[in-house]
Amino acid sequence: MAPPGFRPYSRGRPRLDTRRPRTRFAHSTPATAMEALATNGAPTNASDRALIEVNGLKKRYMMGSQEVWALDGVTLSIEEGDYVAVMGPSGSGKSTFMNMLGCLDTPTSGTYHLRGEDVSTFSDDELAEIRNHEIGFVFQTFNLLPRVNCLRNAELPLIYAGMSKRDRRERAAEALRSVGLGDRLDHRPNELSGGQRQRVATARALVNRPALLLADEPTGNLDTETGDEIMELLEGLHRQGNTILLVTHEEAIAHHARRVIHLRDGKLEREETVEEPALAGADISIG
Ligand SMILES: Nc1ncnc2c1ncn2[C@@H]1O[C@H](COP(=O)(O)OP(=O)(O)O)[C@@H](O)[C@H]1O
Ligand SMILES: [Mg+2]
Repeated sequence: MAPPGFRPYSRGRPRLDTRRPRTRFAHSTPATAMEALATNGAPTNASDRALIEVNGLKKRYMMGSQEVWALDGVTLSIEEGDYVAVMGPSGSGKSTFMNMLGCLDTPTSGTYHLRGEDVSTFSDDELAEIRNHEIGFVFQTFNLLPRVNCLRNAELPLIYAGMSKRDRRERAAEALRSVGLGDRLDHRPNELSGGQRQRVATARALVNRPALLLADEPTGNLDTETGDEIMELLEGLHRQGNTILLVTHEEAIAHHARRVIHLRDGKLEREETVEEPALAGADISIG
């Protein structure tokens, strides 16, 4: 069951202005980079391309004089509305992969197309612009600001995106209602349970209506029952059309997703299709 006050973030919402002329990223400022991304998201183009396409993605780190290939040639597509879990032993490249998809880092080689546009060639400013508008992050440790209330925490990405205060407040309140925290807007994180804190973090991740929601071990710091509550929340978001990529080392958590990607030594070892995804408990009270 969806939490009370759950309001959909619909896939069909008119958030991309498709009337603008197409602009190439290569010669653009961040603002026009967004226009090009938006234009490329138009139905005419989007229908024949996956939301995310990575091809031969590699990332090399230097440890002193030694090379470490954190990613060693990953090729994968993710469709709009997919729910994908990434599994693998420690050091297999999960976080590196998530950082690439989240535009926090750029590959050493290979390509990353988001809505058909090759973001692996973007400048730092352009990547920041994409992060602010297209990516929502949820972390194991919540990463909330302790001294400000839920509303201020949830509106943070919209400050970076340059939205007016009134619109920010409205959107942040809406996002908090959508995760069942409409009655906690004025609470600070230390006045909330762990599960509620992760809900605030999820509201913050959703507030810019991202194309992609990235969650790195979102239940890692929660007890089983509270973790189940967060998995239920993600399920609801998936049903409403959100695209979710979840990193976890727990098989039971991964099987909430529709696809499970296994990484090993920076390579895609195998992929599973989950025929009967696990459903989080239906009788959880949200409080
Ligand atoms: N900033 C970095 N500098 C050097 N090596 C790194 C860096 N980040 C990750 N690595 C190495 O890359 C490999 C993959 O790391 P990571 O993506 O964090 O794996 P996972 O999240 O699956 O545990 C590991 O061998 C790790 O030591
Ligand atoms: Mg990691």
